[in-house]
Amino acid sequence: MEALSSDSRRPLSDASYREFQRLVLLHTGIHLTDNKRSMIVNRFTRRLNALNIETFEEYIELVSKKNNPETIDFIDTITTNLTYFFREPHHFDFLGKVVLPKLAAGRSRAEPIRIWSAGCSSGQEPYSIGMTVLDKLDIRKQPVKILCTDIHSKLVVTTRVGIYGREQLRGLDPEARSKWFKETEDGRWQADIAIRQMLYCKRLNLFGPWPVRSGVDVIMCRNVLIYFNDEYQRRLISGFAAMQTPGSYLFIGHSETLDGFSRLYKRVANTVYERL
Ligand SMILES: C[S@@+](CC[C@H](N)C(=O)[O-])C[C@H]1O[C@@H](n2cnc3c(N)ncnc32)[C@H](O)[C@@H]1O
Repeated sequence: MEALSSDSRRPLSDASYREFQRLVLLHTGIHLTDNKRSMIVNRFTRRLNALNIETFEEYIELVSKKNNPETIDFIDTITTNLTYFFREPHHFDFLGKVVLPKLAAGRSRAEPIRIWSAGCSSGQEPYSIGMTVLDKLDIRKQPVKILCTDIHSKLVVTTRVGIYGREQLRGLDPEARSKWFKETEDGRWQADIAIRQMLYCKRLNLFGPWPVRSGVDVIMCRNVLIYFNDEYQRRLISGFAAMQTPGSYLFIGHSETLDGFSRLYKRVANTVYERL
């Protein structure tokens, strides 16, 4: 069959949109509000074209089948992955000036500081954490481990490799770039091995099983909660709280809040919380 042109938009019926909402919630926990319909048509028209599928109904049938490989692309297409280096810079300031010195005080080499970048997209967030760590601590004396997870299958690989093109370097000033990145032969920039070695990158659905159960000193889950409804946000925050001991930290995004969780976390700076 001849490929459909990339601008051929198909109609998406009410019933099919509801099916989309159900499948997205099932696979990602993302609450697709009613006003996202044209976004769905735009994003998935490209996917239907790539698969030479004529209608949304056929596509939904495909994604509804158990264990079908399209689920991975379905999830990759639905997620919004905007990120940049040192996004919300006050967080990295607070991490370097307050959190890391406090956590490092009185620890031994055998007790690494454990940080989780939960919903790390293409890695600019964990690399910003890594640069902050290396500017502040001697990691030979005080090791630091950074777990980087995202549900997007390809961005986890980008994070692991740590190579960024010019347009992905937003937020990284030239001084930090020359200090912590090396230019590759094709004109992109790769993060220093010292940072890459701190990272452990894994594809992970936040609503599936977690690879760690306790002892996470810092969780950064920023600009992720906004995609979930109240019930899913509650599940996630209760899960974070269960794996953190008093005195550990949770960073969230600028438009997110932990109002309603004051038994578990107290606010210590703008969108930074300490486990009680
Ligand atoms: C807007 S980005 C935020 C990236 C980074 N934290 C920041 O603030 O710059 C949101 C990320 O959350 C991820 N995400 C959405 N739902 C998820 C889920 N259920 N499990 C894991 N990651 C998820 C998306 O793939 C996306 O990369």
